[in-house]
Amino acid sequence: MLDFSRPNDLSACWMPFTANRQFKKSPRMLVEADGMYYTSGTGSKVIDSSSGLWCVNAGHKNPKIVEAIQNQVSELDYCPSFQIGHPKVFELATKVVDLAPVGIDHVIFTNSGSEAVDSALKIALGYHRAKGQGERTRLIGRERGYHGVNFGGISVGGIVNNRKVFGSLLTGVDHLRHTHMLEKNAFSKGQPEHGCELAEDLERLCALHGAETIAAVIIEPVAGSTGVLIPPKGYLERIREICTKYGILLIFDEVITGFGRLGESFASVYYDITPDMITCAKGLTNGIIPMGGVLVSKEIHDAFMTGPEYLIELYHGYTYSGNPVSCAAGLATLSVYAEEGLFERAKELSPYWEELIHSFKGLPHVIDIRNEGLVGAVELEAIPGSPGKRGFEVFVEAFNQGLLARATGDIIAMSPPLIAEKSHLDEIRTILESVLKKAN
Ligand SMILES: Cc1ncc(COP(=O)(O)O)c(C=O)c1O
Repeated sequence: MLDFSRPNDLSACWMPFTANRQFKKSPRMLVEADGMYYTSGTGSKVIDSSSGLWCVNAGHKNPKIVEAIQNQVSELDYCPSFQIGHPKVFELATKVVDLAPVGIDHVIFTNSGSEAVDSALKIALGYHRAKGQGERTRLIGRERGYHGVNFGGISVGGIVNNRKVFGSLLTGVDHLRHTHMLEKNAFSKGQPEHGCELAEDLERLCALHGAETIAAVIIEPVAGSTGVLIPPKGYLERIREICTKYGILLIFDEVITGFGRLGESFASVYYDITPDMITCAKGLTNGIIPMGGVLVSKEIHDAFMTGPEYLIELYHGYTYSGNPVSCAAGLATLSVYAEEGLFERAKELSPYWEELIHSFKGLPHVIDIRNEGLVGAVELEAIPGSPGKRGFEVFVEAFNQGLLARATGDIIAMSPPLIAEKSHLDEIRTILESVLKKAN
């Protein structure tokens, strides 16, 4: 007999990427959301400066998205994803690839960014094998990269705490150096001037391992979770050039930068660089229903389309890949982006956002401020011996004062929903300024 009589408490739930003991002593609960705001468990308004977790690009509880999901659940709730289709998955695929740079014209759906990344890495290996270059097995990531939490993603990822206790990870992986150069680039507006030469690391790794052994390079065009690292001028172009020169696939992980964050559909469009694959998630469904995807070039897709037609071409997929409810959410989300002109809106707001976020310069402990599109970060000096403490305290105090931001270590990162008005951005500034002025 099931017994649900135990009183509700917080102990059973092991929260992800959370200081669980601190949280359970002093919980931060959200119980409602609408537009730019959450309502906390104590009934106060909390302005969302981080689009939830970089995903609620169209703002909370958009009525068109809510309605589309409700309708879909009552029409077709679930449909097998292997060997069977439903109309919306094809419709969504077409719309998603139409947002990508020319030449990227197929998408395979996943349920998260982490799954998208691991799928992309597998596709890269399978592609080279299909082309008769099975010796290309090496994968190159970058220090400070975040590519989700699955084994592929943490292997190519470069955030130390996400890797160090999880064993030997994938073999045959190497990393470019990260591009964070505080000493030269602090307080840059938009793309920093210095650091393009770091792309030459890829030449070095090609020389070290043999370019013919390298399958793919994966990088975030703007590294988000490590604290918003904007690519130095010329860096992405040079990485693209080197990949092309050696036949290495370039994967842009656009889980954060996809769907308008920089004022264009994808960072690839914003920076005018076409990778061979794009991973996405988050803003695809406005964060409401889990969904991700790997967008691939025709060349990659077609390499798999050989052999007898009754055979499966790619032995990969998930029970929930492209499920009807996610697709309904995705379709509604993309039409809201288009109808409300949200990508253009992000572009228009970017200069205001840039000035606003750089106004924190000079406040206590602020050692850098960075921005691009509608993303920004304020880096605080770490307390000696206690890295991350100051950032965490600022995050908690901001929440208590009615602002949801992200803290990664001592970096406060923000990425407001693209529906924000200038007055919302001002409100974010006022709260964060007051917290930073009193930061210990
Ligand atoms: C660049 C990047 N890749 C992958 C992921 C992982 O996505 P998910 O948390 O949906 O698995 C994230 C999440 O923040 C991300 O920022």
